[in-house]
Amino acid sequence: MESQLDSVQPQEIPRVPGHWLLGNLLEFKRAPHRFLSALAKQGQGLVQFRLFHKKMIAITSPECAQQLFKSSSKNYPRGAQRKSLESILGLGLITQEGRLWKHHRRVVAQAFRPDFLEYSLEQNSRLLAKLLQRWDGMANQGKSVDVVDETRRITLSVIVRALFSKDIDLSKNRELYGAIVNANHLMFTRHTSLFRFPDWIPTPLNRKVARTRAVMDAFIAESLAEKESRSAGLGGEQDAATSKDIADHFLQAEAAGDISRAQIFDEIRTLLVAGFETTATSLAWTLYLLARHPEVMEVWHAELDSVLAGDLPKWEHMSQLPYTEYIVMEGMRLFPPAYGLTRTSLEEDVIEGFRMPANASIVLSIYGIQHDERYWQDPEKFDPGRFSREWREDAFLPFGMGKHICIGSRFSILESMLVLASIGQRFEIELISSAEVEPNAQVTLLPGSAIQLRLESRVS
Ligand code: HEM
Repeated sequence: MESQLDSVQPQEIPRVPGHWLLGNLLEFKRAPHRFLSALAKQGQGLVQFRLFHKKMIAITSPECAQQLFKSSSKNYPRGAQRKSLESILGLGLITQEGRLWKHHRRVVAQAFRPDFLEYSLEQNSRLLAKLLQRWDGMANQGKSVDVVDETRRITLSVIVRALFSKDIDLSKNRELYGAIVNANHLMFTRHTSLFRFPDWIPTPLNRKVARTRAVMDAFIAESLAEKESRSAGLGGEQDAATSKDIADHFLQAEAAGDISRAQIFDEIRTLLVAGFETTATSLAWTLYLLARHPEVMEVWHAELDSVLAGDLPKWEHMSQLPYTEYIVMEGMRLFPPAYGLTRTSLEEDVIEGFRMPANASIVLSIYGIQHDERYWQDPEKFDPGRFSREWREDAFLPFGMGKHICIGSRFSILESMLVLASIGQRFEIELISSAEVEPNAQVTLLPGSAIQLRLESRVS
């Protein structure tokens, strides 16, 4: 017998009006994060819109996101986005699906185990003390700090240390820095181009992609060779001081037949790119927000001064700095680096009573959900303390959700806490300009204009 539930016909997903030819292309291109955010007001968790000829479905509620990304995730692979990133990243976790992804997810996840996080944080604590000497110099000379450039320098040094236990000299490695910044930009251009030439045709874009990948690969090859010659010098034994980084873990997995050398390159390229710009952007926004909110800074400095009492921030302090963690989370809520995630439907489905067609292009509006007043009180306010009260966990999605949830989320939060604590302990920060900075949505949600800070030492 047909149940009452079966007899209820799924509804059609509501559509937003648009230009007869372009659809919603212009509003979307202008500011995709805002366009998607505004859609939430018109629909019931799912809304259809059109980019020229391409139909899209936006997911704007945590309930629908939950069903798509968790309960029915098999029906919703990453689709087209994945393909457009492959020529730069290779076949790493971000670009794989299916059995190969599952196998690699297990291998890479083991690299991010708790003892690696502790090891990495201890290494970074010393590294940051060194990196921030540059900031001391700038503070003494009254020079302003270009926040985006500085946070990129820091996160690149941190990810290289986490991967290979080595320091990079950025004045000598400008090419690597440029290549990784470029990789994000190229991925965006690739992803948003209406037409794509095959990789083997030497278009200016394809040549840039090949060059970027070659620079990253030369660096990875050199770093792995250094590791192997060090280990050969130790008679094949692992060096205890450097046996805990990600590359060591991959080399062990290679020796056990779990991963090939080409796959190690794919995964390291992926981690370099995924772990760099996202965290750098999030740190830049958070410093901007802090500088605009002296009342938050006051509470924060009190926490840092009482917990650290003049020590360098270290692993054991992290669990005692809840307000610092809330600051990191609130920065990611207001300016989520990954502001939208794309998926494709394989078969027709029903999501929260709506008919999801097969082969639909879907985008989850992370920015929209994190700015929605149905889930967040006073959503535009920078209020780190909200995380000490009751809050909707399913409406906080900076790292995505479900099986592809960010593998570096804990690493990134701890790294951000460490960087912020190290800066907050040493400096008062002040914005040079009081003008509001608007986001510029590329692969990540970048600041649309420069953020310049003036520093004043807090250490007498
Ligand atoms: C603020 C920092 C970060 C943000 C906002 C962020 C965000 C995300 C999001 C939203 C996803 C899910 C993508 C999807 O479902 O399609 C993801 C996946 C991923 N992230 Fe992150 N991420 C950050 C930092 C990092 C770091 C530090 C690393 C590594 C060192 C990293 C490595 C990865 C990888 C490898 C994946 C793919 C996981 C998979 O598909 O199995 N991320 N990240």
